[in-house]
Amino acid sequence: MSSFEIESLLTEDRRFPPPAHVAEGSVAQPELYRQAREDAQGFWADRAREHVTWATPFTQTLDWSQAPVARWFADGELNVAWNCLDRHVEAGLGDRIAIRWEGEPGDVRTITYAELTADVQRAANALADLGIGQGDRVAIYLPLVPEAVVAMLAVARLGAVHSVVFGGFSAQSLHDRILDAGAKLVITADGGWRKGKVFALKPAVDEALALLDADGANTVEHVLVVRRGENDVAWDDARDLWWHDSINAAAPTHEAQAFEAENPLFILYTSGTTGKPKGILHTSGGYLVQAAFTHKNVFDLKPEQDVYWCTADIGWITGHSYVVYGPLANAATVFLYEGTPDTPHPGRWWELIERHGVTILYTAPTAIRSFMKTGREIPQGFDLTSLRILGSVGEPINPEAWVWYRDVIGGERAPIVDTWWQTETGAIMVSAMPGLTTLKPGSAQVPVPGVRIDILTEDGTRVDPPNGGLLAITEPWPSMLRGIWGDPERFLETYWSKFSDPDAGKWVYFAGDGAHVDEDGDIWLLGRVDDVMNVSGHRLSTTEIESTLVSNSAVAEAAVVGASDETTGQAVVAYVIVKQSHRAEHSDAEFSELFRQHVAKEIGAIARPRQVYIVSELPKTRSGKIMRRLLRDVAEGRPIGDTTTLADPAVMKLIEEISAR
Ligand code: WTA
Repeated sequence: MSSFEIESLLTEDRRFPPPAHVAEGSVAQPELYRQAREDAQGFWADRAREHVTWATPFTQTLDWSQAPVARWFADGELNVAWNCLDRHVEAGLGDRIAIRWEGEPGDVRTITYAELTADVQRAANALADLGIGQGDRVAIYLPLVPEAVVAMLAVARLGAVHSVVFGGFSAQSLHDRILDAGAKLVITADGGWRKGKVFALKPAVDEALALLDADGANTVEHVLVVRRGENDVAWDDARDLWWHDSINAAAPTHEAQAFEAENPLFILYTSGTTGKPKGILHTSGGYLVQAAFTHKNVFDLKPEQDVYWCTADIGWITGHSYVVYGPLANAATVFLYEGTPDTPHPGRWWELIERHGVTILYTAPTAIRSFMKTGREIPQGFDLTSLRILGSVGEPINPEAWVWYRDVIGGERAPIVDTWWQTETGAIMVSAMPGLTTLKPGSAQVPVPGVRIDILTEDGTRVDPPNGGLLAITEPWPSMLRGIWGDPERFLETYWSKFSDPDAGKWVYFAGDGAHVDEDGDIWLLGRVDDVMNVSGHRLSTTEIESTLVSNSAVAEAAVVGASDETTGQAVVAYVIVKQSHRAEHSDAEFSELFRQHVAKEIGAIARPRQVYIVSELPKTRSGKIMRRLLRDVAEGRPIGDTTTLADPAVMKLIEEISAR
């Protein structure tokens, strides 16, 4: 074993072939893989014609002459919003429900494709009246209300660029993002509903703009304010406008103009776990093609009958590609929920699925593990038989959480697609196809047809399966990022410097994730490379040890880090959440010892944690990813670093106290 490979210690033998009821009518067909293998560009050109209606057909599929900035379908023209709306109405689908939305207080809205098209046309006129046109940047800072979708599509319709900032971010974060993008307009709300209360949004916008004024760098001309929370807000008559007033004053119809395929569609900031957020830039044609294609095939979408729910906020890439663009391009019925999973009761999601007849659920492992913590009795109190496809995204899903998801939520009927991708990739890159693939719990499985993934050693050689290494994307793909806004150097450095050889015309994208490829060619994600531990010269994955801990029936969730150790270089330190139903069985000290032994027994003494701390919460980003960096600080006795991206900063205080005992 050479120093750069990542050892894989976990074995997982459970297999789940596609159930007959999904295999029979499968949207995805094996033919896709065959065609993509023979001619990837021809494959994407066909998908581009199948999933998108072009105002001007493209003649060139890929222009890679300015690598690593790709131009896909570059001489084609389209309007992204028209593809998501008007064309469905013109095809006779105007009465189909586009969005069914439930607010946290229980208010429900149903919007057909005809209505959504009309709303977006008016909104586009309202934005144009405020001087928004092609290339202008618009910041969107909204709760998850239908207006958020309308706003995104209205911006897209004008060929302008949206930058959605998650409503949970602070005034300072909003300031940084408005500044970086030079936004001309901000669309916000008075407030939204969360955890049974109205949380105000407009004050954060006011504060962000005051900071920009202080910088002497305020590019924002207007603030459009959606009324949702009905909380009192401060008002600047010269700058602030109510959304409903502007909409009512705008002309009702708007003819969509076509833009070139490479017209920028959005910037989305990704902070990772450290450093200044990067403004990831996506453009129109290639993005829409891959978002629509993957949405249709990976979720086996039958738009005439499915009710599709992706629980992500529109502030994340998952909300862009799989709440808005992919589903609406496919004329799907999208369910949206404004609030938190546990308000006003812990069964809220399951109640929503039952009430709205949700058939496809796409969510994150962090949510699944939190439901495991509170126990299966809660979902079992609801009728979830409408569900036929389940999806997972955002982190590796531990096999035990996968099986729980399948059994408890999917009633052992619904296949799970574990989808690997990133803000930067724009759309799903690795996944099973539910009607075709025999599933392995914990594996994301195979590259999407037309996508080329390799697992490489540190020096760029492909590993011999079965083996672990670094996940790399070795051919351009349609929905790939086109750059980091305003920072071409960082774009090259972050993603393209590790494995590429520009002189030889070789460009390889480094994703920053470790992965194992098994004898069948299936891919198992091992976590971020920055989190890999080196114990006595063995490179161990955080994911595998965490999965082993979660395979203990008492464990709901676990995070593992490598802390410096005099004898072994690094030692494994684990933070574990015990399921509520098991809490009374042992003391914390007994649990700790049990879990140390459990890991040693399941994967070997090398992985046995030096310490196991029993905690009640783990530090997570606002999108639900565990922030191991902070746990490493605690494990090594350092003051904890930057906690501004934490969803709940109080969590670290508790963990510090427990570790100090
Ligand atoms: C992780 C979310 C394992 C991974 C769409 C990636 C995953 C990062 C999976 C991107 C998965 C996402 N299995 N790991 N199915 N999906 N990741 O930009 O580390 O928020 O690099 O995009 O999440 O996170 P991002």
